[in-house]
Amino acid sequence: MSLLEKGKYINYQRIEDNLAIVRNRLQRPLTLSEKILYGHLDDPHGQDITRGVSYLKLRPDRVACQDATAQMALLQFMSAGMDTAAVPTTVHCDHLIEAQVGGVKDLERAININKEVYDFLATATAKYGLGFWKPGSGIIHQIILENYAFPGGLMIGTDSHTPNAGGLGMIACGVGGADAVDVMADIPWELKCPKVIGVNLTGKISGWTTPKDVILKVAGILTVKGGTGAIVEYRGPGVESLSCTGMATICNMGAEIGATTSLFPFNNRMTDYSQGYQACAEYDQLIEINLSELEPHINGPFTPDLATPLSKFAEEVKKNNWPEEIKVGLIGSCTNSSYEDMTRSASIVKQAADHGLDLKSKFTVTPGSEQVRATIARDGLINTFEAAGGIVLANACGPCIGQWDRQDVKKGEANSIITSYNRNFTGRNDANPATHAFVASPDIVTALAFAALPSTLSLTSSSAATASPSRQDTFQPPPEDRAAVQVAVDAKSDRLQLLQPFKPWDGKTPTDLPVLIKVKGKCTTDHISAGGPWLKYRGHLENISQNCLIVGCDGDSNYGEGSSREHAALEPRFLGGLAIIVRSFARIHETNLKKQVDILGLESFAPGKNMTLVAKHADGTKDEISLAHSFNEGQIEWFKAGSALTSWLPRPRP
Ligand code: F3S
Repeated sequence: MSLLEKGKYINYQRIEDNLAIVRNRLQRPLTLSEKILYGHLDDPHGQDITRGVSYLKLRPDRVACQDATAQMALLQFMSAGMDTAAVPTTVHCDHLIEAQVGGVKDLERAININKEVYDFLATATAKYGLGFWKPGSGIIHQIILENYAFPGGLMIGTDSHTPNAGGLGMIACGVGGADAVDVMADIPWELKCPKVIGVNLTGKISGWTTPKDVILKVAGILTVKGGTGAIVEYRGPGVESLSCTGMATICNMGAEIGATTSLFPFNNRMTDYSQGYQACAEYDQLIEINLSELEPHINGPFTPDLATPLSKFAEEVKKNNWPEEIKVGLIGSCTNSSYEDMTRSASIVKQAADHGLDLKSKFTVTPGSEQVRATIARDGLINTFEAAGGIVLANACGPCIGQWDRQDVKKGEANSIITSYNRNFTGRNDANPATHAFVASPDIVTALAFAALPSTLSLTSSSAATASPSRQDTFQPPPEDRAAVQVAVDAKSDRLQLLQPFKPWDGKTPTDLPVLIKVKGKCTTDHISAGGPWLKYRGHLENISQNCLIVGCDGDSNYGEGSSREHAALEPRFLGGLAIIVRSFARIHETNLKKQVDILGLESFAPGKNMTLVAKHADGTKDEISLAHSFNEGQIEWFKAGSALTSWLPRPRP
């Protein structure tokens, strides 16, 4: 399965066998994503398969967790009382490293500050047989692409940009920690059978248009909710002109349109795949994009689906009164931090310098992994960035997740930044609600950091040297003898806390519940459980619950949109909340809530049967509101047992 995991193999035979059964049953052509997904069914004979309706029980090939979500996932796994993860699993230290002055110093500082968390993760992974990527290794999704993604595979990861691996033909879905724990505990993973949105790419990508512009365009078409409940499947002859990391960028940012995941066909099979397939594949929606005509796009501010073609951008800035000066250009994040991204950006920096241009904005560069950093160091690109005045940050998430000690503007001061990242919700990068964050390709970000128009520069590739890069070894495989490993959790720690299981339902209908908070408009997981400085409490449910809904929240539809952070579901429950009532939920958050959170009107709780909320007003009047829910029978059992894990694992807790 990976060079780093001896003795573990990809079971393509199981996929073939499952598919033969499913094909026989459905008697219709399947899209590529259906083939991969149904090839991983737990029960291909008995599973109901209706897109958008049935819940599939699936057997993923592997699990990946980043350090912020891994803490809670591992604490939950420990509470299940098992001694080994059932599928290959890796943990990646990338979210807790704050960008301050530059790579080496920032990494040293993070290792000191987060020592007890890293020690916990290192010992827990060693104990339970997981691979551990130490701080400084790089961003989870880049490392997955380099070491673990494979065509036809099914992976889940506790981070919403896990779909990045779709660039290598893998179905990779972002999930909450509770789902990861289920799969690690050998319980099938449940996913509502996705619809399939096809994106047909014709033409050829060239010039200043990059793969990032494909997804910026798609986000503009589908909006942040348009991919909900669907896999976005790319196809067509245009795929041939995209690189693997470019396809990964497109899949990565599919999270911004709410897609379950995104997928590309294996490139050199594209021709076979598109012929004859075009006529018979059944998509729920099909979008056409001609890459030869696609312009570079700049999306934002404050939402990733506000798509503006480059040629209209100046006009939109004026019209909307967005701050004109770009204060900082930031290259990196799991979306755009590959070697290819770095070389394109460095090429533009070099040409700008050769033209006598100086950086007009601050400029930061985050390599996606130690492999990428070592390679660009070998090729002299770090020198190119630094000679121009750029700062190369640690191989980590950094400002993308708000880990940015930004000093150049005061909080509340309106300003613009442009990033090659994926997300630009209010306050995401620097905790300043007045920062207008725009997202674009690394090429456009670099050019605009010089305040240069793309037409003054052209794109060339840097010549790659052939010597091996000198790379730090940042991977810790599980040891042979795991019995002696002690998992490090200090009982007095304010960052880690062993979990107590939630109590089962007492069988009573709760009445006279106070309404704790009413919100309206957009409500992302960043609103429910703020990031930034709160990241450090991700392993301590009691402490992190102090951040619950403290960000100026205003949300009631697609509630829980954004990251996979399950703390946003756990916290209201930990604080005594019983029900979250909204117009609609974002997919990952909905599952996180069902695994942990209760609801009203419970004696007759059954699939498809509405419940009633009685709202009692201060003046003594009452309103009855009918509540729909989407729990299936199995999920109702999770609720009754107190959580999903306790419903499946009858063994006594340690
Ligand atoms: Fe990290 Fe930002 Fe990606 S937080 S995993 S780089 S979306």
